[in-house]
Amino acid sequence: MSEIVKDYIEDYIRGLIPANRPQIEAFRKRAMDDNIPIIHQEVQKHIELLIAAKKTRTVLEVGTAVGFSASIFAEAMGPQGQVDTIERNFKMVVQAEENIASLGLSHQINLMVGDAQEKLAVLDKSYDLIFLDGAKGHYIHLLGDCLRCLKPGGLLISDNVLFKGMIASNELVIRRKITIVKRMRMYLETIANHPQLVTSILPLGDGLAISLKKDD
Ligand SMILES: C[S@@+](CC[C@H](N)C(=O)[O-])C[C@H]1O[C@@H](n2cnc3c(N)ncnc32)[C@H](O)[C@@H]1O
Repeated sequence: MSEIVKDYIEDYIRGLIPANRPQIEAFRKRAMDDNIPIIHQEVQKHIELLIAAKKTRTVLEVGTAVGFSASIFAEAMGPQGQVDTIERNFKMVVQAEENIASLGLSHQINLMVGDAQEKLAVLDKSYDLIFLDGAKGHYIHLLGDCLRCLKPGGLLISDNVLFKGMIASNELVIRRKITIVKRMRMYLETIANHPQLVTSILPLGDGLAISLKKDD
């Protein structure tokens, strides 16, 4: 459970979400059993809604892990959709490639192997949607390049921004997480007040920030 939303509310909402198609559902359960931190079901559904509403065709993701969310985004966009996704952990990359291939999505998903900060710095493309789901203490360092690579009218979606409640309450902060908490607070203050963005922070999953890049 996320510790952001009361368990009974989260259970109720999850009970209303239709199951993924069997192959995706098996993938989700396998990832959960292996303790891979994949997107929460209600976050998945919310992003699927935004992809449909915005007719999203291009996604950049930071943090592929085993390729679950990248596959969800590719399927939600349909065959015209393209996902570029960055992962630095080679073990994860190998698993993600296998999972993506077994779903028949390799032609839609481009796995970029390496550190997100380095990859983003030289990325010369623009996207309809950018999903930040890598190391939580580094969102603030990626923001400049994310804004450069996001189309006007595009969405920057940042996951885990309430980080088990620690971002909102000092009482919940674990000592060894202090740096992450400080950086995430700085990140949220920055995107909430950024002149190019309209940002909404939702207590969904582990906290989700949705920022729209204003038209030029
Ligand atoms: C929460 S998991 C991603 C889960 C995935 N988005 C999903 O929902 O299926 C975070 C992943 O980001 C990767 N990661 C963290 N920091 C990174 C960085 N600076 N560059 C590239 N990958 C990074 C980690 O190795 C980990 O696999």
